[in-house]
Amino acid sequence: MAASMTAEDKTRLAALFDTSGDFLRDGHWRERETPVFEDDAAEDGAAQRVAGGGDSLETIAAEVRECKACGLCALRILPVPGEGVERPLALVIGEAPGSEEDERGKPFVGAAGHLLDRMLASINLSRTTNCFITNTVKCRPPGNRDPSPEEAAACAPFLARQMRVLRPAYILCMGRIAAQTMLHTSEGIGRLRGKFFDYTPDYPADNAAAPAIPLIATYHPSALLRDASLKRPAWEDLKTLLARLQT
Ligand code: URA
Ligand code: SF4
Repeated sequence: MAASMTAEDKTRLAALFDTSGDFLRDGHWRERETPVFEDDAAEDGAAQRVAGGGDSLETIAAEVRECKACGLCALRILPVPGEGVERPLALVIGEAPGSEEDERGKPFVGAAGHLLDRMLASINLSRTTNCFITNTVKCRPPGNRDPSPEEAAACAPFLARQMRVLRPAYILCMGRIAAQTMLHTSEGIGRLRGKFFDYTPDYPADNAAAPAIPLIATYHPSALLRDASLKRPAWEDLKTLLARLQT
């Protein structure tokens, strides 16, 4: 695949061709209007690296911070690549950064994040010791709306790359959006939660032998904050995961 070019690369290249053409014709440089170029789609780069190997969490995070692959880049304060340990026991996937996450550049640091930390602690999980926490999209959707399918698709290569580096033993999806995105389904969270699925990594062919990863979904902590009646079923889901972790 050809290396992708930024708008700046293209502008410089066009200027070089224009002016050198003028110079070769009659020995004079001319002033001229530079056409307006756009960056090549950044997913190109993101997707390419999945096939390439030699990737790291730091590289991915640095590219997320520069990313303009979807419209969410225009309104974000800070992108939120994710945080936690390498080779985690559980990869915890939320929906998208909220306002606190957007301001601090870290996942799940608001009210829902505090509840998430307590939920995880109840089954001996924590972002400081054995989890990595991230989201299906890395930039905040305005007004906390759901990410669009285009935004989710543009951002998916980052999560795929993170998963390939992290190689989590388990995946825990928080809420409908994460579960639907990871399982490629439009089924409701009420039906998806509380049971194990085999998640087959979307890695390309060089990694065809990658084993399926057990994935379980539960309600999003924000949903628990809105509706306390969901706490009991969420606890059942966490216990289902705990039982599996203990085997
Ligand atoms: N909700 C999410 O889904 N993710 C975050 O990072 C914060 C709140
Ligand atoms: Fe890039 Fe993802 Fe942010 Fe969109 S949401 S700009 S794809 S990092």
